[in-house]
Amino acid sequence: MYRSRLGTDLSDITLDYVSSINDDSQIALYDILGSQAHALMLYENQIITKNDAKKILSALESLKNEKFEVFSGAEDIHELIETLVIKKAGMISGGKMHTARSRNDQVALDIRMKIRDDINIICNCLLDTIEALVSLAKNHQKTIMPLYTHLQQAQVGLFSHYLLAQADVLFRDFDRLYTTFNHVNQSPLGAGPVGGTSIPIDRHSTAKMLGFDGVIENSLDATSTRDFVAEYVAMIAILMTNLSRISEDFVIWSTTEFSFIELADEFTSPSSVMPQKKNPDILELTRGKTSEVIGNLTAILSTIKGLASGYGRDLQQIKSSIWSTSKISISALVILKSILLTLNINEKKMKKAAESSYLIALDIAEKLVQNGIPFRTTHKISGALVQIAHHSNKSLNKLSMKEISKIAQETKINPDLIMKIIQSTTITSSLKERKSFGSSGYDEQKRMIEDRMKKINNYRISVTKRDNDISNTLDNLSNKIIEVIK
Ligand code: ARG
Repeated sequence: MYRSRLGTDLSDITLDYVSSINDDSQIALYDILGSQAHALMLYENQIITKNDAKKILSALESLKNEKFEVFSGAEDIHELIETLVIKKAGMISGGKMHTARSRNDQVALDIRMKIRDDINIICNCLLDTIEALVSLAKNHQKTIMPLYTHLQQAQVGLFSHYLLAQADVLFRDFDRLYTTFNHVNQSPLGAGPVGGTSIPIDRHSTAKMLGFDGVIENSLDATSTRDFVAEYVAMIAILMTNLSRISEDFVIWSTTEFSFIELADEFTSPSSVMPQKKNPDILELTRGKTSEVIGNLTAILSTIKGLASGYGRDLQQIKSSIWSTSKISISALVILKSILLTLNINEKKMKKAAESSYLIALDIAEKLVQNGIPFRTTHKISGALVQIAHHSNKSLNKLSMKEISKIAQETKINPDLIMKIIQSTTITSSLKERKSFGSSGYDEQKRMIEDRMKKINNYRISVTKRDNDISNTLDNLSNKIIEVIK
């Protein structure tokens, strides 16, 4: 339809190469809404007549439920919708729909509307997953487990502490996406192909009708930039790396060797040959799909970085990377939430692992510190005690006075004090005495759980408001359209 100065049509293979119609199914509805707001604005500013507006708006309204034909010959959804509007409304009215705009501001608009909806969906999914983490933490404030560094046992901890750490990570993902929304929710509509228009349009009015917080003012910027896309996908890439790490923890903990957790059957896969297998494929796929999202980010950045200012068709290619990113993150979050809610936790195994190592070594050193001994000396004493216990294959509280005296003599510390501290230090006493802000200590769990529960509620109020603001605005638009059409 647009080939006014071009002689021949595209061959089927070229059309298929050039067309974005498949990817555009995700933005068809946004394109219709954008066109309706634009047509309404043209009418309100006396650029088209009420009769023209009526015909265009009715035609667009009837397209809302349309299953668009992929083999229509159109290069994209914008061309296809305009063609169908002209068919339904006639050239005299329908031919006016594309007044004072371009596919360049249209596609930017559609992508922004799609991403802002996706952000709201993902923010809600994040809160659901965070809530699952915090509820599980609530039930596991007394579940002792080893904490690791270098995947070697490091300090005694609690399973709730682990879960709360992941909740905090996801809160930050939420914060980042919540801020990104502000950069996304700005209207490029009315920027035209690149330099604006001589027709007296009102860009602020269309922005308002579509629920945008403002406009991208400069028309060159509005049509060229995809920085908001890169930002969104980057935020999701970070989110996915966080989900990938949780997945990796769970994969390790569900091995026979660890057996800290067991995944519900519905989140595991069998082997085609080994009947006994229960594989954590779903979690492995979160790891794998994280790489795909990182790939999407790379594809987007490398497309943008090579483009001169002004729209370039390369930009068409990034759409599928955005859709794939949204779909992966939404599914990953929904699935992780269900995995958490159905997880079987082997508390005995976790505790046994924490007991069988020398995890209280630092606690012993710290108790000596509280008796006025320099930490460097206490580190030496505790380390030497572990060495002896390890060589004679026994726990620290089984060390004899003779064994302790040797170290006490070398460091000039009273052996009775060392003995008393060793005897009174257990993994439980260690967790009782761990008082520092944000630590694995028992008291801190309760405080953090209460705090995070409140935080979830506050965050929910904010996203729900954003969601409602958009749907209310679009309802108003719809009512205005009905007024004109009737
Ligand atoms: N299908 C195109 C895209 O997705 C729409 C914009 C085309 N603009 C143009 N001047 N060729 O980016």
